[in-house]
Amino acid sequence: MRLAKRLDAVKPSPTLAITAKAKELKAKGIDVVGFGAGEPDFDTPKAIKQAAIAAIDAGFTKYTPTNGIPELREAIAKRIAQEHGIAYKATEVLVSCGGKHALYNLFQALLNPGDEVVIFAPYWVSYADMVRLADGVPVIVQTRHEDGFEPSHEAIKKAIGPKTRAVIVNSPSNPTGAVFGRATLRNIIDEVKGKDILVITDDIYDRLVYKGRFENVLTVDPTLHPQVVLVNGVSKTYAMTGWRIGWTAGPQALISAMQKLQDNSTSNPTSISQKAALGALTLPLDAEVEAMRRVFDERRQHIVKRLNAIPGVTCFDPGGAFYAFPYVGNLLGKKIPGQAEPIGTDEKFVAHLLDHHKVAVVPGSAFGAPGYLRLSFAIGMDQIDKGVDRIAEMVKSLE
Ligand SMILES: Cc1ncc(COP(=O)(O)O)c(C=O)c1O
Repeated sequence: MRLAKRLDAVKPSPTLAITAKAKELKAKGIDVVGFGAGEPDFDTPKAIKQAAIAAIDAGFTKYTPTNGIPELREAIAKRIAQEHGIAYKATEVLVSCGGKHALYNLFQALLNPGDEVVIFAPYWVSYADMVRLADGVPVIVQTRHEDGFEPSHEAIKKAIGPKTRAVIVNSPSNPTGAVFGRATLRNIIDEVKGKDILVITDDIYDRLVYKGRFENVLTVDPTLHPQVVLVNGVSKTYAMTGWRIGWTAGPQALISAMQKLQDNSTSNPTSISQKAALGALTLPLDAEVEAMRRVFDERRQHIVKRLNAIPGVTCFDPGGAFYAFPYVGNLLGKKIPGQAEPIGTDEKFVAHLLDHHKVAVVPGSAFGAPGYLRLSFAIGMDQIDKGVDRIAEMVKSLE
């Protein structure tokens, strides 16, 4: 079968692959602990579901404007105004089918062949592939565990050149949970300000911060506004991953170009989900969101402590999101009993962990960070304990 060459540059998502394999084993009745999924385990708050049910009952089941219903775009603009003090017009907001769709459209609308996009590693898998699908070139900037996975000013400066079209900031980060400090955000701002470069700030984990308050390039420097593209959504904050609502706020020309793409591909995001998202943004849900954050925080502290207690494992203390990102590189020289060769790679470590110890985690290589593992702690405390016990068991068995 002759297929489009553009897909050759893209690998299937390893996160989805691991999650699918774990689900398959579970379906066979095997007791697998799944640390793979990037979604809250909580149910969508009831008031949000009711907003959706009311939409169905009222017959709100037809096409809407492609860019989203005006009241949702206004609610998004209002939230941005409250958080950043910047007044976006509702026309400068585009509602898409999840943050992922928003980012996909963004790169398609922004990039010409050869345009570079700076991405800090460890990075969310989809960024690099979405940039490639838009004929862009991902420029990967390594960050270090010992620097809290924040890029140095030198590294930022080095990555930015005449072909740079955008820099992506994802703080709190998937996969590390790192939160960029004001100094790092300031360094990024200093390197792009006044140039024809956008900062794409993927704030999808903005409500899941465990130390201090959420910051992005706009909270540090509101005057960067014309060069900023905000991406966010309801998936993580309101446990609404399946509803598929995300959005972009940014310069009008870019938003209109993205809308043109959406006009000719998906049209509007689901009408019912838009009403649910409107409920999420306008109903009094702060207490429920805070309750979920607290549960994540308890799990975060627990899993990090437990992982660090395993000999040979070092786990970074994440300041946000719901991922633990331990380093197991020092164990890769060891052997699995009965095997002649050392484990060698994080992928092989992960495969053995799933096949023999029934624990699903994502290898760091998938995020540009060989030697690491990503464990989502969006699962119950009993599952966390069971899974970490099994990891400790595997580590203990290594020779
Ligand atoms: C960093 C990051 N950005 C964006 C998204 C997109 O989420 P959604 O498409 O569910 O809104 C995710 C989801 O995993 C993510 O981790």
